[in-house]
Amino acid sequence: MTAEIAVDALRVKEAEAELARLAQLLKAANQAYHAEDNPDLSDADYDQLKRRNNAIETRFPDLKRSDSPSDQVGAAPADGFSKVKHAVAMLSLSNAFEDDDVVEFDARIRKYLGIPQDSPLAYTAEPKIDGLSLSLRYENGVLVQAATRGDGEVGENVTSNARTISDIPQTIAKAPDLLEVRGEVYMGHADFEALNERQTAAGGKTFANPRNAAAGSLRQLDPAITKSRPLLFFAYAWGVLPAPLAKTQKAAIDQLQAFGFSTNPLTALCDGPRQMVAHYRMIEEQRATLGYDIDGVVYKVDDLVLQDRLGFRFTTPRWAIAHKFPAELAWTRLEGIDIQVGRTGALSPVARLHPVTVGGVVVSNATLHNEDYIAGRDSKGVEIREGKDIRVGDWVQVYRAGDVIPKVADVDLSKRAEDSVPFRFPDLCPQCNSEAVRESGDAVRRCTGGLICPAQAVEKLKHFVSRGAFDIEGLGAKQVEQFYTDKWITEPADIFTLKARFGSGVQQLKNREGWGDKSASNLFDAIEEKRKIPLDRVLFALGIRHVGDSASSLIALHYGDWPTLNAAMQEAAGQEGPAWDDLIDVDGVGAVMAGSLVNAFAQARERASIDRLVAKLDIQPVARPDTQGSPVAGKTVVFTGTLEKMTRAEAKARAERLGAKVSGSVSAKTDILVAGPGAGSKAKKAADLGIKTLDEDGWLALIAGA
Ligand code: IVH
Repeated sequence: MTAEIAVDALRVKEAEAELARLAQLLKAANQAYHAEDNPDLSDADYDQLKRRNNAIETRFPDLKRSDSPSDQVGAAPADGFSKVKHAVAMLSLSNAFEDDDVVEFDARIRKYLGIPQDSPLAYTAEPKIDGLSLSLRYENGVLVQAATRGDGEVGENVTSNARTISDIPQTIAKAPDLLEVRGEVYMGHADFEALNERQTAAGGKTFANPRNAAAGSLRQLDPAITKSRPLLFFAYAWGVLPAPLAKTQKAAIDQLQAFGFSTNPLTALCDGPRQMVAHYRMIEEQRATLGYDIDGVVYKVDDLVLQDRLGFRFTTPRWAIAHKFPAELAWTRLEGIDIQVGRTGALSPVARLHPVTVGGVVVSNATLHNEDYIAGRDSKGVEIREGKDIRVGDWVQVYRAGDVIPKVADVDLSKRAEDSVPFRFPDLCPQCNSEAVRESGDAVRRCTGGLICPAQAVEKLKHFVSRGAFDIEGLGAKQVEQFYTDKWITEPADIFTLKARFGSGVQQLKNREGWGDKSASNLFDAIEEKRKIPLDRVLFALGIRHVGDSASSLIALHYGDWPTLNAAMQEAAGQEGPAWDDLIDVDGVGAVMAGSLVNAFAQARERASIDRLVAKLDIQPVARPDTQGSPVAGKTVVFTGTLEKMTRAEAKARAERLGAKVSGSVSAKTDILVAGPGAGSKAKKAADLGIKTLDEDGWLALIAGA
């Protein structure tokens, strides 16, 4: 910061100039922080500028500017866009990479729905636009809200910005009372080049690719800026509707077009995988001349009733898939190999590359997976890359697909230096010097230091505060590292005692680089707010190996609350007996995950750390979704025999959606047995136990309308 005249010594002219300077600096800082997600001032510097501005205004009230930063306290700068909770979650798509994956996709759907191979089943195929998705809400035909995808549940309100996009109708004639249209905001190649030229000429920020340009342009706090950016929109989906738009995906898209939306002209109807892949090839051939970025082709089941029956699994629909284009490649020099230690102790080799542009993005790091990968073999000892190993100094091929972490795919032996030596993978942890061992069957070598390894402890903490876990605002990876280094936080429980250990806390924190009054007290508020937290988030946040986001949700749903989960984990510790069987019976939980989970609860050190954490929290039970009015909520149901109207998988998913627990065996806990033709011993056992037994029609009648 430049030398400043003390406020008391300022003369009127200087004060006026200084207020102008401060207004400009603070405006730029807000812009960088909120609109570009790229803060250029520390919180402390920001606070200092703000205090100086206020002090000058107090001394010279007449000089206060109409755009004074002191009038913008908190609100706009602190919050950026307001949040919008999506009435229907905005989903993402699972990916296919090979033609065979498309065949499997079709087979999976047929199996789920029980549609034989020789019966027709239609799909749409359309380009996957590389932009950002947007949900538009129309009430009585008038655009009332536009929201970004955000995390799929909650997005940002960008209504004023969306209104400036010419492809988005402001009003729709003959629209239903309520209509949510979803699609992709993107920027064309020519517009992107021209924008970057304009930005360069004006000394502004340039964008790495059209997608970033589109995202950066839509997420502007000033809609006038968005208006000056040439954004376009393709409609391809919908959210809330009072009634279906049509019977098929294709007809629904045509209806959106009739409403005035742009829909992609390369959308085709296909009768199966062969036509789908043919359409994919056709689009791939046109890719370079389309004038906008696409990164694959999306296939969707055409019949909307079938889409509904298929539903979704976690965050992706079962009825759609994205067939991605092959990744882009480039060659560069491997300058070094670093070893990073992850939260589960895994030693991961990272390639340090001479920077190279791959698909419009500069890449200087890439993953090398594990020691076998470097040595030229897979985890079963089978050669990869024809057995070529990777050495520091080699020319390597870098591969990157969409958001996937770049990887080193190949090596050019003709360019290898004569004195090069094979890479020797360390057998000691580079962070704590503990032995790094590789257990049989494990592809990676792991540090055995546990929580004494600073890298593991820090990575666990970073995971703990990450999105999807505790997601504490103001406590990101950088802050966690700082606090860990200072020994203020060494395990998750410490986060919740931070404030108490420092009295009001603000004073100590404030003296630290990067922390000001505002950010310190905001942090303590944010921590307080997260004491009350749902069970699935706590479980995920613990960072137990193999227990990811989806598994945590399923396990939480299964046990319902912390005491039940906790008791079950103790009972299952021996990895046998009813509690263990019950755990591995949970959909999506296998023996490996279950083993990792019960071990975490059984290990003294980890156990104690979990207990300390839980004592600080108010863990919310997880309720089964949408089960109000469901006649089978909380009931344990067993299906047996042949089902004729739906497959077993569909029956199970549907029952679970209605809040029932589906079990594989009949016991005294069973509430309902659904028995189809051919039911055997289970039906008999149910009869012996006096359990209510229904046939398939009886079951469907019971749940009809729920
Ligand atoms: S359908 C329920 N169709 O891809 C499925 N998505 O990877 C909703 N995308 O978040 C998505 N082009 O932003 C669909 N023709 C297309 C698409 C498309 C691009 C994006 C969309 C989505 C992401 C999933």
